[in-house]
Amino acid sequence: MNAPIGDSHKKDIAHALHPYTNLAVHEDQGPLIISKGEGVYVWDDQGNRYLEGLGGLWCVSLGFSEPRLAAAAADQFAALPYSHTFAHRSTEPVIALADKLLEIAPEPMTKAFFLSSGSEAIDAMIRFTWYYNNGRGLTEKKKIISRKRGYHGVTVAGGSLTAIPLMQNDFDLPLDRMIHTDTAGYYRYGRTGESEEEFATRLADNLEQLILSEGPETVAAFVAEPVMGAGGVMTPPATYFKKVQAVLKKYDVLMVADEVICGFGRTGNMWGCQTYDIQPDMVTCAKQLSSGYLPISALMISDKIYDVLKEQSKKHGALGMGYTYGGHPVSCAVALETLKIYEERNIVDRVRELAPRFQERLSALSKSPLVGEARGVGLIGALELVADKNTREQYPAELKIGATLAARALNHGLVVRALPGDVIGICPPLIITKEQIDELFDSLSIAVTETEALVKKAA
Ligand SMILES: Cc1ncc(COP(=O)(O)O)c(C=O)c1O
Repeated sequence: MNAPIGDSHKKDIAHALHPYTNLAVHEDQGPLIISKGEGVYVWDDQGNRYLEGLGGLWCVSLGFSEPRLAAAAADQFAALPYSHTFAHRSTEPVIALADKLLEIAPEPMTKAFFLSSGSEAIDAMIRFTWYYNNGRGLTEKKKIISRKRGYHGVTVAGGSLTAIPLMQNDFDLPLDRMIHTDTAGYYRYGRTGESEEEFATRLADNLEQLILSEGPETVAAFVAEPVMGAGGVMTPPATYFKKVQAVLKKYDVLMVADEVICGFGRTGNMWGCQTYDIQPDMVTCAKQLSSGYLPISALMISDKIYDVLKEQSKKHGALGMGYTYGGHPVSCAVALETLKIYEERNIVDRVRELAPRFQERLSALSKSPLVGEARGVGLIGALELVADKNTREQYPAELKIGATLAARALNHGLVVRALPGDVIGICPPLIITKEQIDELFDSLSIAVTETEALVKKAA
């Protein structure tokens, strides 16, 4: 078991403001300081080793010590550490990365716009959607639909689509024009006696009713993660996206796939779009695009959108949108190398090979009285913790059962994430081996058993 965490840093965090912490509590409790990484492991500054079961924040696909990525960055720093892409300038890494990304992109994507974060890619998607509909003369068609518990970043616009109360309450979000529909999580939201297929139909019907009640002439786009990540790792029913897309088509509403977590092999295909038969109009990606080594994201668009953007930029004199660090040459060089490594190492095949072991070990945990559902696809998964397996009743949020389990896991050298609704998220680097998958689940099993014992004692 690892040594206690954070005690030595009680007084060290006066100036660094950390997101997603209880600032009041964490003034007295030092943070876990991660100091080094190798392969799928990281070490804290006290020398404790952890298997990183969430790949940082769902991003470090190639582990924490890939020398080729460090070399790609160093080479690009030496050649050209900065140049921009405004006003018809470019760099070789931007052009090469766009080519490589589009080569593997979901159909029918034909152009890539680079930014620095998933949130920025979502914001760019919103801007392009509005610009697109203005270009088509549909000036009322502006509302964007996301799903409750969906995560699409934290910028003011992206945070309006992130329908998680913690990220919106008292931040004066969501902005108007941003509306929310049902979560495609059958275990939590399916009705008693309702089949998964019926659940998918009900959600598609509800979406249609929402579009009709808002007025189809006001609804521009629908954005969804193929597998909902930070909102609780919810895998959709098999026919959900097919039914949803039929509704979107009927009312001329764009389908946007937010592939920020699912993209680049995570679900056992290069894209979540392929796993769930999604034909998107736009796609956002980030995170595994550079294995998390440098900030970079992309918004990919189809010709249908591009053709209108072209006309709009003719009308206005330029495409009035871009960031200083969008298409940063060093980030692009690292992302390009990342995509080359995925290709050389057949990363998708690797995920397919490992997924059965990962999912089998995950499923085995559903025997615990604490685990209502173990779910996942490819190399992503979750445990949803409940107080009563028959009724799916949850523990009161203030008991923080999920956070307790994640803390126990940490004590046993494993990083997993407690997500809203007492869901434990697992999303290890894609380079994980079969033996390391066993190690991950051995530690997680101990944490589950210990949490069960704690709960029993408290009852
Ligand atoms: C699906 C999805 N979209 C968007 C984002 C926002 O990305 P970023 O944190 O890089 O802004 C995230 C972040 O976790 C995400 O999971």
